[in-house]
Amino acid sequence: MKRTHNCGALGLNDIGNTVSLSGWVDRRRDLGGVIFVDLRDKHGKTQVVFNPEHNTKVHQIADQLRNEYVISIKGVVQKRPEGMENPKLKTGMIDVRVDELEILNESENPPLAINDPKELARENDELRLKYRYLDLRRPWIQKNLFLKSRFLKEVHHFFNKNEFEEIETPVLCKSTPEGARDYLVPSRVHPGKFYALPQSPQQYKQLLMIAGVDRYYQIAKCFRDEDLRADRQPEFTQIDVEMSFVDQNAVIELFDSFVTEVIGKVWDFEPPTTIRRMPYTEAMLKYGSDKPDLRFDLEIKDVTELAGHTDFGVFNNVYKSGGKIRGLAAKGCVDFTRKQIDELTEYVGRYGAKGLVWMRVKEGGEVETQVAKFFTLEQLHSFKEALEAEASDMMFFIAGPEKIAATAMGQLRLEIARIKGLLDPKKREFVWITEFPMFEYSESEDRYVSMHHPFTSPMPEHLEAMLNGDLKNCKAEAYDLVLNGVEIGGGSIRIHKPEIQEKVFRLLGLTAEQVQENFGFFVDAFKYGAPPHGGLAFGLDRIIASLEGQESIRDFIAFPKNTSASSPMDHSPSAIDISQLQDLHISINAPSKN
Ligand code: AMO
Ligand code: AMP
Repeated sequence: MKRTHNCGALGLNDIGNTVSLSGWVDRRRDLGGVIFVDLRDKHGKTQVVFNPEHNTKVHQIADQLRNEYVISIKGVVQKRPEGMENPKLKTGMIDVRVDELEILNESENPPLAINDPKELARENDELRLKYRYLDLRRPWIQKNLFLKSRFLKEVHHFFNKNEFEEIETPVLCKSTPEGARDYLVPSRVHPGKFYALPQSPQQYKQLLMIAGVDRYYQIAKCFRDEDLRADRQPEFTQIDVEMSFVDQNAVIELFDSFVTEVIGKVWDFEPPTTIRRMPYTEAMLKYGSDKPDLRFDLEIKDVTELAGHTDFGVFNNVYKSGGKIRGLAAKGCVDFTRKQIDELTEYVGRYGAKGLVWMRVKEGGEVETQVAKFFTLEQLHSFKEALEAEASDMMFFIAGPEKIAATAMGQLRLEIARIKGLLDPKKREFVWITEFPMFEYSESEDRYVSMHHPFTSPMPEHLEAMLNGDLKNCKAEAYDLVLNGVEIGGGSIRIHKPEIQEKVFRLLGLTAEQVQENFGFFVDAFKYGAPPHGGLAFGLDRIIASLEGQESIRDFIAFPKNTSASSPMDHSPSAIDISQLQDLHISINAPSKN
């Protein structure tokens, strides 16, 4: 069972040598009595040859081999005959003539076609997740895990070099309000009480700063009971960081160098040494998103004043009610059909837009639109100027409350980019979004909530107004790192004065008792000399997926959950034994499946 080489190692220099290899049968071909097997391990594939004329006994055993059998062979490396070389394979110039064969384990016919990339598209995701250990045998899936592993080695190197301490924080924590829904763990010892799994180590890392740790990092598992999407898993990993005695600039600069030194080393491209920064307001205005995809232009313009003063009811009603009108010149889209426009109208409707006005800019500059009668020629011309639209462009307009006009337009911008093929997977556009609002109004809760989390510091110049109750205009010292329209990381400078922290909790609507009960330990800690501090967390899975041009983070996680947060492989979550429930003092109200 020993091996002298792995399956990706042998080449012309090894000809004539006796070698041993072990691995899986990737493919077996019987060509007129001679059996060829592609032997596979994580390093590659090597062709091994069983020739009945060379060794009848071994050839007979080889006849039993099927895909995914685990075998060990010993043989002599030989040059492949002229014309039989496979330049696509690292080991494609040679093969191994087998003298000894041991079958280490048999395999049933696998439910996934492990050796055929084309089959992947035909298989459904549930099947892949059910047999994830086979799915992961596929070299092109397996490589994602090794890429993550390689990246993490560089991550550790970076933080070591910059004098960060790697410190673990609890997985069984206190459930606190604010943020996403917690995963809960019942306590056996304390009937009726629960731990929460951490949504992030946020409070612990701040307490470590109070403890004088100075620079902390951790590759931390986080758990959030949220609705899942392609880039959201119920458990995911953060590269979590906190630093003392820093301002926003120091944090951002350190992570600029993280991108150049770590990301630039693992992926073959040259990231900018300084990543551009863009205030939230600018991002929302020009790109209709706080995670703008800057691989393409298609800039959104505000035309509220211009459009609001026309006779078009839709526009001036919105204007009068304090809403916004945003426009976009879709380059080269003049030929969009009515059906396409209807589809786009339906699409922006999903983001709250009540409609979509379109205007074609024809050859010669003439503007054609179904709502032409509401506008003077001059007004149509000014729209063209405002949007910098040219012949062959289609102008689009959305009117509505600011948030809706902005985000629906941002989604339209992305959809047009998809249609026109502007999302170049080879481009990598990083941007820091800064100056986030400190609070946002939650319609469902009818109160202001933290946009980041309640430990984020307001910008110093907005502190006083915030303390006086102006939540609407208060900006935070918060920053997100965005790559190609994906939020790959986020953080902030934290509040370090106990009285301000307490005040923020109160502004969020917590009573003094609630603050004490939920965050008392945290606020208390700040009374004993908390240093100014700040930090950030990267979404590890998202960084890698977006750098690989993938929307879904699933293939970068060894054993992910499906979209309903369950695992088709181990069938978690599952019903548990009644005696276990009794131990935990729990009775179940919902009907159980078994
Ligand atoms: P935040 O909630 O923004 O900040 O999370 C940081 C980063 O984690 C990633 N992320 C996720 N990845 C996969 N699945 C999810 N469900 C998921 N949720 C978040 C994102 C995000 O940018 N404690 C703060 C950080 C700080 O202030 O230091 C925090 O957790 O890439
Ligand atoms: P209506 O007045 O509803 O018939 O709409 C006239 C045109 O204006 C249609 O093309 C609608 O899609 C468009 N429209 C309606 N509401 C809005 C809006 N809020 N923003 C942009 N276009 C709109």
